[in-house]
Amino acid sequence: MTNKLIYFIGNWKMFGDFGSIKIINKLHNFYYKFSKAHKKNKIILCVPYTLINFFQKKYKSKLISLGAQNCHHHQTNGPFTGSISASMIRKIGAKYIILGHSENRSSGDSIQKIKTKIKSALDEKLIIIFCIGETSGEKRKKRTFSVLRRQIKGSIDKKYNLNKIIFAYEPVWSIGTGNVPPKKELIKIFNFIKKEIKKTFERKTSPTVIYGGSVNGKNISLFASISEIDGFLIGGASQSSKKFIDIIKNYYK
Ligand code: 13P
Repeated sequence: MTNKLIYFIGNWKMFGDFGSIKIINKLHNFYYKFSKAHKKNKIILCVPYTLINFFQKKYKSKLISLGAQNCHHHQTNGPFTGSISASMIRKIGAKYIILGHSENRSSGDSIQKIKTKIKSALDEKLIIIFCIGETSGEKRKKRTFSVLRRQIKGSIDKKYNLNKIIFAYEPVWSIGTGNVPPKKELIKIFNFIKKEIKKTFERKTSPTVIYGGSVNGKNISLFASISEIDGFLIGGASQSSKKFIDIIKNYYK
């Protein structure tokens, strides 16, 4: 068990409606008591655009923070049909934003585009959850480290405020599959990511790096035993208050 700040971030993806407010309420009721005993953690829910403002109005407590899952690279208004800007996201009450998720990379988010999105979102004072990770093919070809290096260097500028960026290592082959990397591999990769960020951006303090990919109430004990992991980006299991609560409880067991 650790004494450092641990992030539990839910990525609801394209799930949820107004009735999903009950998930936040249940999570809140649990976390209200739990966080008094376990102070060093933070819960963030990154929900669909359609729910951010609704939740912001209905859920008055600030105990659980809200985030978005993507934005257009153009910072404010523009002729971009169907898109949402970082400025719009900030104005409806989100504090966090996921960028670079593999599900968006595979539908057109290039390294350069993600760089512009990060800049736009930082300018709007949003905190970035920046996803990086290799595909199964890249892993097979032993390209994990070079892929991670390219994704970090390509989308982050030295001038960006790194204190406002949470790095999320999400091996693409692990997302939604139930497969997770073994402990030894995770330690190696997390050390690599942290070293790479410190070296590239001449940073003295360690960056925040979290893990995402098939995290659940059972395998969380494996991750909890790895001190290099600063938190979790949780997909499927974050859409159920019970599963999300199990992850948090079991992390501290
Ligand atoms: P799962 O937890 O469903 O594998 O999803 C992980 C993810 O993509 C979070 O961003």
